[in-house]
Amino acid sequence: MCGIVGVLGDHEAAPIIVDALKRLEYRGYDSAGIATVHKGVLESRRAVGKLVNLSDRLVHEPLRGKAGIGHTRWATHGAPNEANAHPQSAGTVAVVHNGIIENYHALREELTAKGAKFLSETDTETVAQLCRYYLDEGASPQEAVEKTLQRLEGAYALCFLFETDDNLLIAARKGSPLAIGHGKGEMFVGSDAIALAPMTSKITYLEEGDWAVITRTSVEIRDVNGKLANRQMRNIQLSAMAADKGMYKHFMAKEIAEQPTVLAENIGHYISDDHTRIDLRTDEIDFSKVTNITMVACGTAYLACMVAKYWFEKIARIPVEVDVASEFRYREPPLNPNSLAIFVSQSGETADTLAALRYCVEQNIKTVGVVNVAESSIAREASVVLPIYAGVEIGVASTKAFSCQLATLAAMVLYASQQTGQTGGHDLAELVSAYHALPGIVSQALQIEQEVRAISTELATATDALFLGRGDMYPVALEGALKLKEISYIHAEGYASGELKHGPIALVDKDMPVVVLAPKDALFDKTVSNMQEVMARQGKVLLITDKDGLKTAGHGVWRSVVMPRVHPVFAPVVYAIPVQLLAYYAAVSKGTDVDQPRNLAKSVTVE
Ligand code: M6R
Repeated sequence: MCGIVGVLGDHEAAPIIVDALKRLEYRGYDSAGIATVHKGVLESRRAVGKLVNLSDRLVHEPLRGKAGIGHTRWATHGAPNEANAHPQSAGTVAVVHNGIIENYHALREELTAKGAKFLSETDTETVAQLCRYYLDEGASPQEAVEKTLQRLEGAYALCFLFETDDNLLIAARKGSPLAIGHGKGEMFVGSDAIALAPMTSKITYLEEGDWAVITRTSVEIRDVNGKLANRQMRNIQLSAMAADKGMYKHFMAKEIAEQPTVLAENIGHYISDDHTRIDLRTDEIDFSKVTNITMVACGTAYLACMVAKYWFEKIARIPVEVDVASEFRYREPPLNPNSLAIFVSQSGETADTLAALRYCVEQNIKTVGVVNVAESSIAREASVVLPIYAGVEIGVASTKAFSCQLATLAAMVLYASQQTGQTGGHDLAELVSAYHALPGIVSQALQIEQEVRAISTELATATDALFLGRGDMYPVALEGALKLKEISYIHAEGYASGELKHGPIALVDKDMPVVVLAPKDALFDKTVSNMQEVMARQGKVLLITDKDGLKTAGHGVWRSVVMPRVHPVFAPVVYAIPVQLLAYYAAVSKGTDVDQPRNLAKSVTVE
């Protein structure tokens, strides 16, 4: 969602800020802006749409000054127009904000009654106007910000810039992450460390409720109670991997291709040195005491949980409930004290998932965060953290994070079997060996790329598509539909293939592409019989199966893709590849913005 940058530099700030904002583009945004202070004058430039519009504006109306703040805005309150873009200014203060100020309406009315003139529809302008009010009353910038923060309800990451002092930024965090970057005689603020990567690797993350008074040579952090706080400065080496597409046209293509490597990294962390046992590298989880599991996540991470439900139940024989976080958090579910709650999130900052985690923490349930971003809120607040080691994921459509989430969850399942002796009739040694072999098989699966590319070009002309799967292929079908929708804007639905005749088969006609995910496993014949029902109604079937599956059922299908053989338990990891490639190439063929699809944000930090 919104991106924040602050600079107290030794050079002109505007180009540095634009550059940093470019590195935050992946978060998703629809307008952008910058404010700087130069010779005692605070000025800003804002523009709707992509950053290039802001850069063009800056060519014609440059901004001077070595102190500045910048923002990419993903609209929540008010349309994505120039007036609503950040920075929002009032008098001598400008502010950029990520999050939602929930009591903005009441504050706006209060300030309007006191004479404030609002120029935007945003909740953020309330913050600027409130700060201005305290400044006008005679408060110093620090006092004005402190008083302002005390009045705000909701979630925020904020960075304030003052006309009266070009050696001062004030940053505050509650609910949305914020990092301070330490340079030599320079200081930076960023909504994530990627924004700051080329400037510095020395990063301090603000904790919940912290606010920081920053000059070029000092940082003073206060906690939620106003007490001076000592926050650790870490060395974060991001520059090598951050925001570089390498030889690829899109981050998504790069991230799809990286899957064998990141899976090997992931599995290497969770398997013993002799590759015969799972080692979660923590003694904190004892599955022999776990009666049931609750899994909570959003979007693709939720679909990874759905796959894991099949695994936990069939192999480790532990009942699992899976819920989308936005529903779970308000359902107030009664939780068994011996249950384990697992929260899966690439970013570790998804607002609903974080709220669901907090609910479970309040209920004294043991919580596990399965996250990619190690410094994220979910990583910090869960009782146990199992990183997915996917590396930075920039494309809004999650790909390598999905496979690494699956790999981490698979490790948990096998570890549960190890601890409890329950294997659901499977041979545990064989499963561990198949798990270890996954990166190689995913690498083979990527060989189908050109074949899928050709099919995608045809798929791209469709207005709708169906994805069908049974058992643990059902969540992969949902994932295929989600990927296609989000980046190619083709309407797609995923169904459990057995559900087809309970309604969706009415959609099938000669124009409807139906993607059938059917490895030759125990459920193959059932899925194929549903596929036949589609073909009997002239549906265009794309069958994704293995060599044996194609031999048995390939006759008469519209198109087919042959996957390498894989242990049936781990087929979801491998069958995710063709659905990612289908969506990617359909989007490329349609010419959509693959890495930053319309209306979407990489990390959804508001509910
Ligand atoms: O960062 P998270 O894993 O918590 O994000 C969850 C979803 O927002 C995310 O998976 C989203 O659905 C992706 N755009 C899917 O490709």
